[in-house]
Amino acid sequence: MHRLVVVLLVLIAVTNGRLSVYHRHQQHLSLRSARHRISPLTGVRIALPTPEQLEWQAQEIGVLIHFNMATYVDNHDGCTGDMVPSISLFNPYKLNTNNWAQTMIDLGAKYAVLVAKHACGFLMAPTNVTFPLSPSGRIIPYNYTVDYSPVKGVNVLDNFVKSCNKQNIRHGFYYTVVNNDYLNVKQGLVQNTTLKKGQLNITQQTYDSIVLQQLRELWTNYGKLDEIWFDGGYTAELHDSVAALVSELQPDSIIFGGYGVTRNPIRWIGNEFGHAPDPTWSTGLEGGGDPNSPIFIPAECDTTLQQFDRWFWGPHVLLRSLTELIDVYHRSVGHNCMLMIDLTPDRTGLIPSAYALRYKELGDFIRACYGTSVVPIYRNSSADGRIHFQVFDSPVTVDRSVVQEDQTLGQVIRVYSIDVQLADSSNKDQWKSVASGTSIGNKKIDLWQAGSQMITAVRLNITETVDVPVLKAFTVHLCS
Ligand SMILES: *[C@@H]1O[C@H](CO)[C@@H](O)[C@H](O)[C@H]1NC(C)=O
Ligand SMILES: *[C@@H]1O[C@H](CO)[C@@H](O)[C@H](O)[C@H]1NC(C)=O
Ligand SMILES: *[C@@H]1O[C@H](CO)[C@@H](O)[C@H](O)[C@H]1NC(C)=O
Ligand SMILES: *[C@@H]1O[C@H](CO)[C@@H](O)[C@H](O)[C@H]1NC(C)=O
Ligand SMILES: *[C@@H]1O[C@H](CO)[C@@H](O)[C@H](O)[C@H]1NC(C)=O
Ligand SMILES: *[C@@H]1O[C@H](CO)[C@@H](O)[C@H](O)[C@H]1NC(C)=O
Repeated sequence: MHRLVVVLLVLIAVTNGRLSVYHRHQQHLSLRSARHRISPLTGVRIALPTPEQLEWQAQEIGVLIHFNMATYVDNHDGCTGDMVPSISLFNPYKLNTNNWAQTMIDLGAKYAVLVAKHACGFLMAPTNVTFPLSPSGRIIPYNYTVDYSPVKGVNVLDNFVKSCNKQNIRHGFYYTVVNNDYLNVKQGLVQNTTLKKGQLNITQQTYDSIVLQQLRELWTNYGKLDEIWFDGGYTAELHDSVAALVSELQPDSIIFGGYGVTRNPIRWIGNEFGHAPDPTWSTGLEGGGDPNSPIFIPAECDTTLQQFDRWFWGPHVLLRSLTELIDVYHRSVGHNCMLMIDLTPDRTGLIPSAYALRYKELGDFIRACYGTSVVPIYRNSSADGRIHFQVFDSPVTVDRSVVQEDQTLGQVIRVYSIDVQLADSSNKDQWKSVASGTSIGNKKIDLWQAGSQMITAVRLNITETVDVPVLKAFTVHLCS
């Protein structure tokens, strides 16, 4: 139910003449705002990251917390415009955000983004925003918030931020601009349809003003945000105002769907399975990216723990197996993509214990498999930076390798292979290739096709690069 909206927005744009955010602005902004350099080695243009983008990529795992009014609705997608759920439903009577943070620690998540407002229109914090009803002009408070619910007085966002701070987990918010059932808004536009129970009538101008005022509150009251999530973007009319608000209030924040409004944008990988293609580049605007793009815009792989792409907690929903989640880890983090996994408190406000266990199992696997290398980081390299190798004092058995590129001056490696010397080979000096690939970026994990091998030496051979490559890490592991 998420990025699909982007597609809709583009279609709507055609029919309404109201242009979606991405696309039109992109063309003229791309070269003006993108930072790049010319390689002294090959003369090609190399996109440069911001320090914030690099720090963000290095976190590798985050959570996208779906907890909101839709948690109390039995639809697969939460609110879809057919109803405004009664505010009396929102009653997380055991709410404990420290419990959420514990699960993040167990998983190994370094940052968390909480849904502050989803399609229902319900806001999980108090707001000072008031607005005129149409056509009467009567001013009323934005009253579809936690302050009018059974847990009045609880600021869920505040609790969440405090719990994250205690555990050194970075935080951010998701606020959908394009849908708001309470105000009868779809694809960013106030609809001119008969009002359903609980819906209020406002003008488009009023809606746009409410959005900007609430973003201002969200971006002012909770400190520095690590990541801001625009699901489905925002309308072209709001583009300049959003860009101004970002540079005024959160210039250092990473912004999902923020290309054109920030110097720290990231992109969607293109699906919700947690699968990044191989290769996935840190550059380029769509999907697996483009090594020749002048825009550094790393990818995020958002995906669910529950089966069938279900984001909000639901009764009797099945969880994905540990085996499947390990595969997701390899296909996201292992393919130079940020793994952002859904975290779903239930209607009491806690993470259900079976869910907590599955997150911890995944975290345990990652720590056990990749926590320490069988041997330390490789430092032995050729002068041109292309060959990195290690000869072992005695044979070691390993089944996979991890390579990390230092992207401070951009992603430069284009093709590489991993070769080993086998302990039981008759010719011990002979190299055998066990893996090869193209994009490395923040991290590339290669599970060796041949399985576990007893080896006496391992080598990374960077066979194509657009500048002198710099490695952050090169390690080998045995996990199966
Ligand atoms: C509402 O306004 C008061 C007074 O200016 C301020 O203290 C409070 O933080 C505001 N609330 C929000 C949600 O911004
Ligand atoms: C909402 O108000 C506008 C006037 O601003 C009016 O034209 C429209 O019919 C109203 N819509 C509904 C659904 O009541
Ligand atoms: C919110 O305000 C509207 C308009 O005054 C009213 O009809 C509605 O009952 C209010 N809702 C709550 C939860 O107070
Ligand atoms: C909304 O619908 C009403 C009745 O169908 C119509 O009179 C009015 O002009 C419409 N308003 C807009 C802004 O389209
Ligand atoms: C490091 O490289 C040098 C030659 O450059 C070599 O003599 C030495 O054995 C290498 N060390 C290891 C641990 O591979
Ligand atoms: C690295 O790979 C290239 C291309 O396959 C090859 O020509 C070169 O000899 C390799 N380097 C070493 C040290 O084997």
